Amino acid sequence: MIIMDRNTSPISPLSEEAMMEVISNTKINEYPSAEIDRFKQLYADHYNISPDTIEVANGSDEWIQKAVMTLGENGVMTVAPDFVMYKEYAEQIDAKFTTVPCNADYRFDFDAVVERIDEEKPSLFLISMPHNPTGQLFTYEALEKLSAAMQRAGGYLIIDEAYAEFGPDFDKPQGEHVLIIRTLSKMYGVAGLRVGIVIAEGEAFRKVTRINHPYPVNSLSLNMASKIFEDRAHLADFIDYQKKSKEMLESAFNKVSDKVNVVESYTNFVFTYGENAVALGRHLMENGYRCRMYNDESLKDVVRYSIIRHEDYDGLNKLITEWSHQHV
Ligand SMILES: Cc1ncc(COP(=O)(O)O)c(C=O)c1O
Repeated sequence: MIIMDRNTSPISPLSEEAMMEVISNTKINEYPSAEIDRFKQLYADHYNISPDTIEVANGSDEWIQKAVMTLGENGVMTVAPDFVMYKEYAEQIDAKFTTVPCNADYRFDFDAVVERIDEEKPSLFLISMPHNPTGQLFTYEALEKLSAAMQRAGGYLIIDEAYAEFGPDFDKPQGEHVLIIRTLSKMYGVAGLRVGIVIAEGEAFRKVTRINHPYPVNSLSLNMASKIFEDRAHLADFIDYQKKSKEMLESAFNKVSDKVNVVESYTNFVFTYGENAVALGRHLMENGYRCRMYNDESLKDVVRYSIIRHEDYDGLNKLITEWSHQHV
């Protein structure tokens, strides 16, 4: 089966040789102290931000969980659909969880979202941008509205930028009540290392990092992650590979956009919906391409596909063409 349901990278950013070098240079008998500082500095330099505003954990999942635990005491709100774990983490601590649904075309009415925030005054609003599962990018105005509403509510806004590196640079609302969450699992291709980053300031930073362990991420993961950011030329080639794969994915599905609704994507996956979308998904699934389908009633006509190795697109394109000929 070719994996297209996890939104991960089809290849590793580190060669076997590079990984062996990291392993032999990692002191596993000592606590990871210098290792975390080194990674933070490299990451902060890459994005031109201060290392003092970032903290690291086991995947951005851990930051979502920590944010829900430390900021969500008066309710957690999000849009529906969004990343499934927002709900899971709210349920873990019995926090009130509310969603504002999308329209029939999977777009959102942010005025309606703001109305709900003003009514319910949650202490935490989470949104992925670019958006999972649809892949869309929200406007600055939409995010600014959310930010202002959460400020009025005395709460916090988390912008979950798991897929940010696949889209264009975008402006975002400012303020101490806005926290950014990022990950190395998507563009940087190391979901298995579990490295997630929070970027925050002031009270928000203090609150979300309050329940940190003394050594939040292990030395091997940190050193592997540092290795990725140290070799800039190799990283640039790896990023090109991922972006090229995304283009190939989009053009594969755009060929049948007269039969299947395809949302323009700013991520490493493509979101399709409608009656035919499920038929196409089944055809691909039966022929070795494992896509993401949903049990949730509101997503029953949705199929999502993430990037694969360049050499696997020939097979995918053939199957899509074959299916298209059968569905004239
Ligand atoms: C929007 C979003 N946020 C967070 C995550 C979790 O990523 P991580 O591997 O950093 O825990 C995912 C993973 O699919 C995601 O889609």
